[in-house]
Amino acid sequence: MSPIEIKKDIYWLGVIDWNIRDFHGYSTYQGTTYNSFLIMDEKIALIDTVKKDFADELIASISQLIDPKKIDYVISNHTEMDHSGGLPRIMHRIGEDKPLYCSKMGHKNLSKHFPQKWNYHPVEDGGELNLGKKKLTFMETRMLHWPDSMFTYVKEDKILFSSDAFGQHYAGLERFDDQMGEAIMPHALKYFANILLPYTPLILKLVDKVKEMELPLDMICPDHGIIWRKDPGKIINSYVEWSLQKPKRKALVVYDTMWHSTQMIAEAIVEALGQEEVDARPMHLRSWHRSDVITEVVDAGAIVVGSPTFNNGLFPTVSDFLTYMKGLRPSKKLAAAFGSYGWSGEAVKLINRELEEMKFHLIDPGLKLQYVPNDQGIKACHELGRKIAEALPAE
Ligand code: FEO
Repeated sequence: MSPIEIKKDIYWLGVIDWNIRDFHGYSTYQGTTYNSFLIMDEKIALIDTVKKDFADELIASISQLIDPKKIDYVISNHTEMDHSGGLPRIMHRIGEDKPLYCSKMGHKNLSKHFPQKWNYHPVEDGGELNLGKKKLTFMETRMLHWPDSMFTYVKEDKILFSSDAFGQHYAGLERFDDQMGEAIMPHALKYFANILLPYTPLILKLVDKVKEMELPLDMICPDHGIIWRKDPGKIINSYVEWSLQKPKRKALVVYDTMWHSTQMIAEAIVEALGQEEVDARPMHLRSWHRSDVITEVVDAGAIVVGSPTFNNGLFPTVSDFLTYMKGLRPSKKLAAAFGSYGWSGEAVKLINRELEEMKFHLIDPGLKLQYVPNDQGIKACHELGRKIAEALPAE
């Protein structure tokens, strides 16, 4: 890709990964980008690199502007290898002795990824680096989403380089929010749900801190996807709204099924929810990817999980989903379990245990039906649906 000047003397130099479809378990069905940025001043700074396989592509982009050896400083806002994997090639090309700025945890973590003894300059929260006319300010954003994460702010241009925060896994020729309009928001929400959801209290604190600092913001440049320039406040406000997880009158009925009995229960629960004007949908775990289900979880008021009893346990996809959801720590959810069984029937108890560990509020002991639901069984499903609807907030 050719560099794109995003502000005077500041360039986007990212690469587009059109083909990636699985990003450590997250379905990136529209690919992604790894964004790197070059700031040209009396001194030249490169902010973040790219995944290892794309390092030569990044070097080729830099070379369209300058000889890479002219880069004076490298800034690593985040250690994860989609942004640091290219460092060995880049540092080799620009000079192994060039100062590498990162947070203190970045120093520790990069040292544990790469054996090279680079010229590390660990910075404090609020630390600065003067490039000439422009000055970089570093903001520690520990656990958003790794211990090493930090932002880099350029006051003169009112640009925030925000690492993973505010990113989206979206591969396209568009570089800016105004080229995408509302179509980018589902990608931003999915990214938030699958990467940042566990850290919502920190996000709310950070937004408060940024508001207190009254940082003027013309542009937010994340490390994935498009740059927010038309309305950077929009994505910040969306992060606040998503972080609050205010429950909607919405229920997800997430399940898997062996011989369609658990599916019959799921669909009967959804039918009753719909009759009570709940935004409800069944989500079969072999039709919906876990990362898409989690995106829907963010604003759902109720999560209803179903599994057949399978070899005295849960169906594997349901275990997978519960493990994934537990790690992402959604909050403020009502919940219930259901499932068909043949003889032992442990699934509902096992789901309940997981839902309680997630601190969800169980509104029913759970619905177990043997083999194939009969009319009475379907009536019980409808009753459970109505009970969930009653417990959800009115809109
Ligand atoms: Fe895009 Fe946490 O790496």
